[in-house]
Amino acid sequence: MIDLRIDEKARKKNIQRCKEKGIILPTYEQMRDPSKIPQSVKDELKDIGLWDVHSRNLFRVNWHNEPKEQGGTFGDVNYVEIPRSITGTKARIVGLVGKWFPTGAHKVGAALSCLLPELVTGRFDPTTKKAVWPSTGNYCRGGAYISRLMSCPSVAILPAGMSKERFEWLKTMAEEVIATPGCESNVKEIFDTCTDIEKNRPECVIFNQFDQLPNHLWHYNVTGPAMAEVFKKIARPGDHMGGVVLSSGSAGTMGAGSYIRDHFNGAKVAVAEALQCPTILENGFGDHRIEGIGDKHIPWIHNLRDTDMAVGIDDELPIRLIRLFNEPAGHKLLAENGVSADDIAKLNLMGISGVGNLLGAIKFAKYYEMDETDVVFTMFTDSMAMYGSRITEMNAERGAYDQRQADRDYDRLMGQSVDHVLEMSQVDKRRVHQLKYFLWIEQLGKDVTELRAQWDDHRNYWGGLRAQAADLDVMINEFNAEVVR
Ligand SMILES: Cc1ncc(COP(=O)(O)O)c(C=O)c1O
Repeated sequence: MIDLRIDEKARKKNIQRCKEKGIILPTYEQMRDPSKIPQSVKDELKDIGLWDVHSRNLFRVNWHNEPKEQGGTFGDVNYVEIPRSITGTKARIVGLVGKWFPTGAHKVGAALSCLLPELVTGRFDPTTKKAVWPSTGNYCRGGAYISRLMSCPSVAILPAGMSKERFEWLKTMAEEVIATPGCESNVKEIFDTCTDIEKNRPECVIFNQFDQLPNHLWHYNVTGPAMAEVFKKIARPGDHMGGVVLSSGSAGTMGAGSYIRDHFNGAKVAVAEALQCPTILENGFGDHRIEGIGDKHIPWIHNLRDTDMAVGIDDELPIRLIRLFNEPAGHKLLAENGVSADDIAKLNLMGISGVGNLLGAIKFAKYYEMDETDVVFTMFTDSMAMYGSRITEMNAERGAYDQRQADRDYDRLMGQSVDHVLEMSQVDKRRVHQLKYFLWIEQLGKDVTELRAQWDDHRNYWGGLRAQAADLDVMINEFNAEVVR
């Protein structure tokens, strides 16, 4: 459970500070349903850009943002349905679009959710503390951004091998950027840096997304309902919610899978990972190129009881497909194969992990032999705006993208098989859950009783946590009421 005990003196100080800076906080209910956001806030947003450093953008931590750079308010949930001429499946595949969050990725939601309880209880004091955001990329961008909106100093931690776009923007947002050795899957090095900070820098508070329950809470209460809303909008009579396929970085987004599993009978949840780092499939390790996921450990907040399948994705394929989906020769080939110009124009809404998720969803739909009445949901966490430099690097390494390469890549896409798919038995689920022990208990000193509760007392553990969104909303509303009084 999230600790919601209040430090009254510190809370009052936070209220006073928000009053001086004109900061009001969104509730989970407002993040889920923007019709609950006050009209006065919506009016203000008409003059504010999507990425502007303005505290009203806290309300744009929302799946319903109008898809525009400047002055948007709220409409439908942002999603894309990928056409069958690309998926090759009978089932429909739909991805929520993270690009239209400030920072261009939905991870800003996890970051806000981790900070909110600390602020409204008073346990985090932005005047004396720095918020530290350990991440493989988008979470620390989100954390640095949210910290700026709240005028709070921040430290971003990410592996040196992450894309240039991330580092350049971060330098403008965080007070300090720490690049840890290695690439995507070198999370141990990130944790080591955190341990070092914890020991030596008392002014720092670490918001570790991999064990922060509010990360799960946000996706269960906000992202899951956004998927359900899209399903309601696009489903025809007799259609089924097939399930959700997500790759796991912190496993926060997996919380949306749990929501869908709880609310749609028969829906299943799959977790995707890079074949080059098959931790769930094989207890394996390794470097890979799907930025944002697969970090050689099982995150504390991954609920394995709710995970029905693991899917391995060869990282070479998303790397090739971002060229097919974004290079002129790729577009030409897709058009020849019946993909409409409208659909082609939307393909840049998938970043590398988005393409990986699409491939996972294709395997999932094929494995379960889903048909035209099934709808499978996945996540396009960020967009190609974050990976232009990867395209440039590939042109240098592999030569310009031409018709021959596009042909080969499209064939591979159409030939997606159901290899490296594990439908998880009870024992498989428990095996993966138990892997948490070695990092979280042995190395990082967490309490084994809680690890057992996640499994043995799962209904109370996860159910109790998810219900805290309502408690937090009461606390946020009371906090805001004192700010504006
Ligand atoms: C690009 C990208 N994809 C996927 C993920 C995984 O999301 P989660 O951490 O919620 O599992 C992340 C996380 O940072 C990411 O940045």
